[in-house]
Amino acid sequence: FYAKEALLQLSRFGKGNVRACKIQDQPRYGWRGFMLDESRHFFGKEKVKQYLDIMASLRLNVFHWHLTDEPGWRIEIKRYPKLTTEGAVGNWHDPKAPATFYTQEEIKEIVAYAADRQIMVVPEFDMPGHATAVCRSYPEISGGGEGKWQHFTFHPCKEETFEFISNVLDEIVALFPSPYIHIGGDEVHYGNQSWFTDPEIQQFIKDKNLGNETGMEQYFIRRAADIVASKGKTMIGWDEMIDAGVSPDKAVIMWWRHDRKHQLVKALENGYRVIMTPRRPLYADFIQYGGHKVGRVWGGYNTIEDICRFPEPIIHLTRDYEDQVMGMQFSLWTERVADAKRLDYMTFPRLVAVAESAWTPAKSKECSLFMQKLPYFLQFLGEKGIYYFNPFNPESTPEPGAPDKEDVLKNG
Ligand code: ACM
Repeated sequence: FYAKEALLQLSRFGKGNVRACKIQDQPRYGWRGFMLDESRHFFGKEKVKQYLDIMASLRLNVFHWHLTDEPGWRIEIKRYPKLTTEGAVGNWHDPKAPATFYTQEEIKEIVAYAADRQIMVVPEFDMPGHATAVCRSYPEISGGGEGKWQHFTFHPCKEETFEFISNVLDEIVALFPSPYIHIGGDEVHYGNQSWFTDPEIQQFIKDKNLGNETGMEQYFIRRAADIVASKGKTMIGWDEMIDAGVSPDKAVIMWWRHDRKHQLVKALENGYRVIMTPRRPLYADFIQYGGHKVGRVWGGYNTIEDICRFPEPIIHLTRDYEDQVMGMQFSLWTERVADAKRLDYMTFPRLVAVAESAWTPAKSKECSLFMQKLPYFLQFLGEKGIYYFNPFNPESTPEPGAPDKEDVLKNG
């Protein structure tokens, strides 16, 4: 499959001609991924298939599908119909937008389409936080919350919560052959205010000697890890969960907090396998050019050159643990991405640089050479109908507007 893709790529560079050559090639990393958040905004199966086609051409091999979060639940679960009749209603900009979600048939179709292109699809069911869409549909398992974080968490110690999660996961594992299921675990503190006052939770913390609400969160993660393991899968979690006490045999860590490099090191020291998607430079919701006005900025932004250089600036941190580093991915959160045009613009051409970095060994990667080849990829993206940003001529590809005034340049 990859030999064919390499040949096609060479023929693009050679305008249809390929010089006689010998290719001896293998990827630097086994996990070469792209994450798409379809909870904040939903893009639908044709867009996903178009991206899978391009990913395959770039020899990217993991599609991490963020299907559940605050604004909407996006996957049909037959046992819990309110997840889609109620939980799928709304998006980041419009809490009343008509329900959008993938039926189980559509999920199967996309998973098969990806498999034909050597791409594994890894679903994310975020818990115990970012669970708003679930908990407003099934308030009996809600962990409360405050203000704009109402229903943000699952109730962390009711047996009904764990039964619900187990039942939902039964349907999810039947749809996704991937050996991994992502269960989130991030940013629980945003909306766990009720845990501090709920008598049932407080009693549980005392009875189980959990110490405090962080101990409660870690207990929840251990239970979730056991449920995932009982279904024959390995869980993936965001880097908050390295302190939860889950055995490294049962979990893979996704490192995202670029300002907490010690979390990456600690995960490796504790024996976890790690996938790297640090916000800088691997979050696609950061702007890519100084003149851009919509997106995130955090002590800088994410240029295509920064992505090409990754992971060399931090490689000294992982040097002793090469076997535990599974790979890297570009992650696109879509709070400020409401339509296909902005989706393309934030993704491309930076995803091409992700593919370059994830594939090419450090000793043969040359970012200046990559930038010389990039025009061929831009032409290819244009032929695929992608509205990409042109780093060589920024004015020629104007930035698509902000969906909303408050979306302009968000720090952090
Ligand atoms: C994350 O960005 N909350 C993983």
